[in-house]
Amino acid sequence: MANSSRAPGRSRRLRAALVVSAAVGLLATAGAVVLPGSASAASTLGASAAERGRYFGTAVAVSRLNDSAYTTILNREFNQVTAENEMKIDALQPNQGQFNYGNADRLVQHARSQNMLVRGHTLAWHSQQPGWMQNMSGTTLRNAMLNHVTQVATHFRGQIEWWDVVNEAFADGGSGARRDSNLQRTGNDWIEAAFRAARQADPNADLCYNDYNIDNWNDAKTQAVYRMVQDFKSRGVPIDCVGLQSHFTGGSNYPSNYRTTLSSFAALGVDVHITELDIRNAPTDAYRNVVNDCLAVARCKGITVWGIRDSDSWRSSENPLLFNGSGQKKPAYDAVLTALNNGTPPPTGNPTTPPPTGNPTTPPPGGGCTATVTPGQVWGDRYNTSVTVSGASTWSVVVAITPPQRISTTWSGSPTWDSSGNVMTMRSNGSGNTFGFTTMMNGNSSARPQIRSCTAG
Ligand code: G3I
Repeated sequence: MANSSRAPGRSRRLRAALVVSAAVGLLATAGAVVLPGSASAASTLGASAAERGRYFGTAVAVSRLNDSAYTTILNREFNQVTAENEMKIDALQPNQGQFNYGNADRLVQHARSQNMLVRGHTLAWHSQQPGWMQNMSGTTLRNAMLNHVTQVATHFRGQIEWWDVVNEAFADGGSGARRDSNLQRTGNDWIEAAFRAARQADPNADLCYNDYNIDNWNDAKTQAVYRMVQDFKSRGVPIDCVGLQSHFTGGSNYPSNYRTTLSSFAALGVDVHITELDIRNAPTDAYRNVVNDCLAVARCKGITVWGIRDSDSWRSSENPLLFNGSGQKKPAYDAVLTALNNGTPPPTGNPTTPPPTGNPTTPPPGGGCTATVTPGQVWGDRYNTSVTVSGASTWSVVVAITPPQRISTTWSGSPTWDSSGNVMTMRSNGSGNTFGFTTMMNGNSSARPQIRSCTAG
């Protein structure tokens, strides 16, 4: 995913943030260790997605963080958030040169306190522009847009995993053309200019192009975005990912070739994200299909639903979400969780590597507890590890990784990292006595994590 102009590796913040704090009860069910990749029984969306190296997120309206019923579901179920409106241009720069980060910062802080990843939405868009920007054109507008990208990406540097750098820049219908807008009229290169400015301001964030109605592989709009991404990759424009909003509301249906769309974009060398999912009347089969399609594409990094309860939805009359207005789980929720739990590894991820050898099973004595390693699923580029602690109900376990291997995802514990990023201290967080993590091999397929210590309390 990394572009050549990027800072090497992922930051410690990102690795730590890929924790699933909501994973209460994950893995350890009635004492049984459930290995990722097999039929498991994770009890929340985020925890189950994390077992498969994915996130499951939601759009959040910051004003609703005062609603305890809302935040209870948010904190329990989701490990990624997108600000529904609070990071849009009109929210962040209501008057030119006057930035208002209050609500957005509040969401970022909430996400960090819950170990949730944050998707930034959105740096450049024809819509939700403040009045002062709507009235601009030409070079003045281009410079104002680039300044906004730079200022905002700099403000949030280190806190945003993915930026929707440009949103909805293509026209609907069969033309395959760019959408006419004041930004488009500054010149066809406005999109790549925005991506370059974003990369410069935050080299560690993944940069995405995000749009709706690019779900059906046969649609002209999908093909046009595909060609743009292909062009950007061929010319070194820094793009890391494509977001398919996937609003299957208001008359747009889940297309049977959705998986082809995901895998086709991925084949260009970008990650794909399902960024704003909602489906009219929340049919179980369509929700299940979306999950299965994402799980089938290795570069599909996760799914974000566009709101928590039907009453929170921008299309609330269509009841398109996973929880009803009372916060109860709907049948679609069960379908999604079951699909995640039953999820098979990506096609390229069939276990081909023999079980690793040399796993330490017993740390040096004296810490008051024992940490037992169980090797998990192995894919071509990464592998999972479970660690079960006995002898203490609260504990910290120190795990060392051999570079260039990197831990990319953890679950059912609270990790901290040493300055090298190679040594993780995992502390119990009430999620049981088994924690897990995914390690990216980064070219070293033989090394395996070493348990350095297990300390009770
Ligand atoms: O907060 C004000 C309120 O004070 C005022 O009384 C009211 C009067 O209209 O407006 C309220 O703001 C509204 C805001 O949502 C918060 O509810 C805006 O008018 C309304 O335009 C805004 O709509 C948002 C829309 O983007 C704006 O384009 C939706 O919440 C949001 O879900 C929607 O999200 C977009 C994504 O960003 C991009 N993809 C499509 C998606 C759905 O349209």
